[in-house]
Amino acid sequence: MTQTGISVENLVYAYANQEPVLRDISFKLNAGERVALMGATGSGKSTLLENLMGLKQPHSGKIFINGIHLESKTLPQVRRYIGFSFQDANDQLFMPTILEDVTFGPRNYGVPPAIAIDKAMQLLADFGLEGYANRSAHELSGGQRRLAALASILALEPDILILDEPTNGLDPAWRRHLAQVLLRLPVQVMLIASHDLNWLGKVTQRALVLSKGKIHIDTDIQPLLRDGDTLDRLGLPVDW
Ligand SMILES: Nc1ncnc2c1ncn2[C@@H]1O[C@H](COP(=O)(O)OP(=O)(O)OP(=O)(O)O)[C@@H](O)[C@H]1O
Ligand SMILES: [Mg+2]
Repeated sequence: MTQTGISVENLVYAYANQEPVLRDISFKLNAGERVALMGATGSGKSTLLENLMGLKQPHSGKIFINGIHLESKTLPQVRRYIGFSFQDANDQLFMPTILEDVTFGPRNYGVPPAIAIDKAMQLLADFGLEGYANRSAHELSGGQRRLAALASILALEPDILILDEPTNGLDPAWRRHLAQVLLRLPVQVMLIASHDLNWLGKVTQRALVLSKGKIHIDTDIQPLLRDGDTLDRLGLPVDW
């Protein structure tokens, strides 16, 4: 039976010749959950998300995506379920035009060109980029590139959305709009790494906090955001 969600069991990951960044990570995300991944700069958020996407291989421990054990032979199947946005949007946009970037995934999975283009234009319009469809990513601003990268992920209608710092480079109006877009998506599970605590409070219900290679806290996000002492202790002081 396939169960929707992410399950991580005792995951350990170290970069070459270094102490482990992720020491013993276990958690479960179930269908219907929108979850924040918090932690100080360098605490390992991006490293953890890249492990979930199969871009890095854990030294030990197991990852299950929709009940399927993530390993090299299941990687293509598992990737089909996940939309993943990199911390750096430039890593996501590689085609000559933005429209080709947003249609690339669906066309790869056999969606007819006209349907892929319609869907892409609708997503680009959602993100205020309809006038940029035929431009290359270099001609966009940093925030526009981030929105274009998100459009390219949403075009695949993923079950699971994993976003690494999605509000980087966005002004307050676009941060709000992005929250609204994310809240109306029919996505089953969202996991979002961000330093934008107030924004996370609008979009997610649960928070995982990474510290010293472990999930130090797994809690409802609202009480955590009101607990200044704990945030300070975790290296997440409220912005000043
Ligand atoms: N390619 C790499 N080689 C060696 N060490 C790395 C590499 N990438 C990251 N690290 C180290 O791993 C640790 C975790 O980095 P990571 O990028 O996962 O942190 P993060 O929580 O995403 O930080 P940020 O909030 O700045 O995005 C850091 O100490 C970093 O220096
Ligand atoms: Mg990061």
